[in-house]
Amino acid sequence: MGDIARVLITRDEIKKRVAEIADKISSDYKGEEILAVCVLRGASIFFADLVRELKCKTKIDFISVSSYGAGTTSSGEVKIVKDLNETLDGKNLLIVEDIVDTGITLNYLKNLLAARNPKTIKICTLLDKPDRRVRPLQPEYCCFSIPNEFVIGYGLDYKEEYRTLKDVCILDPSVYSKK
Ligand code: XMP
Ligand code: MG
Repeated sequence: MGDIARVLITRDEIKKRVAEIADKISSDYKGEEILAVCVLRGASIFFADLVRELKCKTKIDFISVSSYGAGTTSSGEVKIVKDLNETLDGKNLLIVEDIVDTGITLNYLKNLLAARNPKTIKICTLLDKPDRRVRPLQPEYCCFSIPNEFVIGYGLDYKEEYRTLKDVCILDPSVYSKK
C-alpha cells in the first residue's frame, strides 16, 4: 500500500456520516418523491450507500460527465458522456457527486439540468474542497469538508485505480509527481 500516504476518513466515519446526511435529506423531502442522480463513476459507491438509507420514495438515474483528463488537475472542459434516461420535468432532482473541487463540473451540470425544468434541484456531495473553488457552487448537503489534498478510495480514483478501497485516503504525492 505504498501509494497511500494515510487514511483521511475511515469506513466507520463514512458510514455514520452517510446515515446522518440521509436522515437530513429524508426529513427535508418528507412526503415528496426524489430522483437521485449519480454522477458516474466517482459517486457510485457513496450513491449506493446513501440511497439505501433514504426514507422517502426515491428513483435513481445515472449521468456521466468528463471534466478531468487522466491526471489530478482540471482541464476546465466538461462534456456529457452518458445522459440521464429520465425526464426531469416537475421532479425533485438530487445530484449526488463524489467531490466538489473547483466547482466547474457541478456548476456546468447544475445549469444544464436546471434547464430541463425540475421542480427542485439540490446537490449532495461526499467531499468538498472549498479552498479550491473557481466557480460559485454551494452543495446543500456535504458529508465532509477536506483540505486541498488529492484523495482516493470509496469511489474516488487516480487514473482509474483505488476506487474499491473502503476508506477515503490521501494519495502519496510521489505517485503523481514522478510522471
Ligand atoms: P471540479 O474541479 O469540477 O471537479 O469541481 C470535480 C471532479 O474532479 C475530480 N476530483 C478528484 N478526484 N480525488 C479524486 O479522485 C480528488 O482529490 C479529486 N478532486 C477532484 C472528481 O472526479 C470530481 O468529480
Ligand atoms: Mg467525479
